Amino acid sequence: MSEDLEEKENQLLLGIDFGTSRTAVMSNRGYQSITNSVVGYPKDIIGIKLLGKAQVFGDEALKNRSALTLYRPLEDGVIREASERDYNAALELLRYVVEEAKQGEDVEVSCILGVPSRASLMNKEILLKIAREIVSIAMIVSEPFMVAYKLNKLNNTIIVDIGAGTVDICGVKGAIPAAKDQVTILKGGDYIDERLESAMNQKFYDVQITRNLVRTIKEQHAFVGEPDGPLEVTLRCEGKPGSYDITNEMRTVCESIIPDICESIINIMKGYDPEDQPEVLKSIYLAGGGSQIKGLAAAIESRLHEYGEIKVTCVDDPDFTGCGGALKLTEDLPPEHWDKVGFAGE
Ligand SMILES: Nc1ncnc2c1ncn2[C@@H]1O[C@H](COP(=O)(O)OP(=O)(O)OP(=O)(O)O)[C@@H](O)[C@H]1O
Ligand SMILES: [Mg+2]
Repeated sequence: MSEDLEEKENQLLLGIDFGTSRTAVMSNRGYQSITNSVVGYPKDIIGIKLLGKAQVFGDEALKNRSALTLYRPLEDGVIREASERDYNAALELLRYVVEEAKQGEDVEVSCILGVPSRASLMNKEILLKIAREIVSIAMIVSEPFMVAYKLNKLNNTIIVDIGAGTVDICGVKGAIPAAKDQVTILKGGDYIDERLESAMNQKFYDVQITRNLVRTIKEQHAFVGEPDGPLEVTLRCEGKPGSYDITNEMRTVCESIIPDICESIINIMKGYDPEDQPEVLKSIYLAGGGSQIKGLAAAIESRLHEYGEIKVTCVDDPDFTGCGGALKLTEDLPPEHWDKVGFAGE
């Protein structure tokens, strides 16, 4: 085997989608995982004793939350500039997911890291620096571009990535998207959770409701448009379980994100050549966890009907489309050329 080939075989290529709420990883050796983007630090010496370590990640951190101070490094979708705590939490989280992906092997790692499209240049530089502390070769790509790459829709396509912190809408035009082709709306899944929690608190003032519970209920039942039937969930009042109807509340809060999404889709669509606009309107893709809200694609289509034929499609696997695109890019573009590209998707 030639030295080059041997080197290549030894290399672990990773696509990573570094999200506010979850970090998805895929490797060229078939490994894939999702980690809650959270780092926990024991509050005191008892916590260190209980957990046996000074940092805990993902679900383990959430499970032991009472013993920990939890930290979400990408809380606003980006690292707060000049915050050492953010920097370290992001570094530790990324190191953890890369180590897991290595599965005990001592291999050289190259990774493409997807970051929110709105991340500033400063933030991309910080993230690139973090990545380079952990892996041999790294490149930063904006999230919606990775989704488009995975779908092989690199022209006349609009990607709507409905995440936890934000909804990112991006027009793909055959090149790495420019800032003017991207819009960020601060009404993602967290916004829905907040509104649903307050609507439920208002309706059932005596039941116990937490943000986590609300998110779980939303992930099971979120819908827009006409309900299939009444939506009744089990909640606890004074410790006793009971059945509570939240049909209208769920519908109203989920529908509240639609107008802004539609307005942004139209604004981005108008930036295309008029001859291409009909094609663009038939190539709108919903990605991210929030794309699983039932009825959302149809609701967007019907709201935009006056613009002509519209086709909105939900990606098949919202958890892994972004990092799948990043992995595909690592395989298509040899790492030794990444330095020449620098950041992709500014
Ligand atoms: N079935 C579902 N229905 C509705 N919402 C869901 C569903 N599953 C997950 N979500 C929501 O999707 C959001 C997480 O999506 P995703 O993992 O794409 O976000 P992220 O990439 O971490 O965030 P961001 O893109 O803002 O950085 C959360 O708000 C979550 O509650
Ligand atoms: Mg995301």
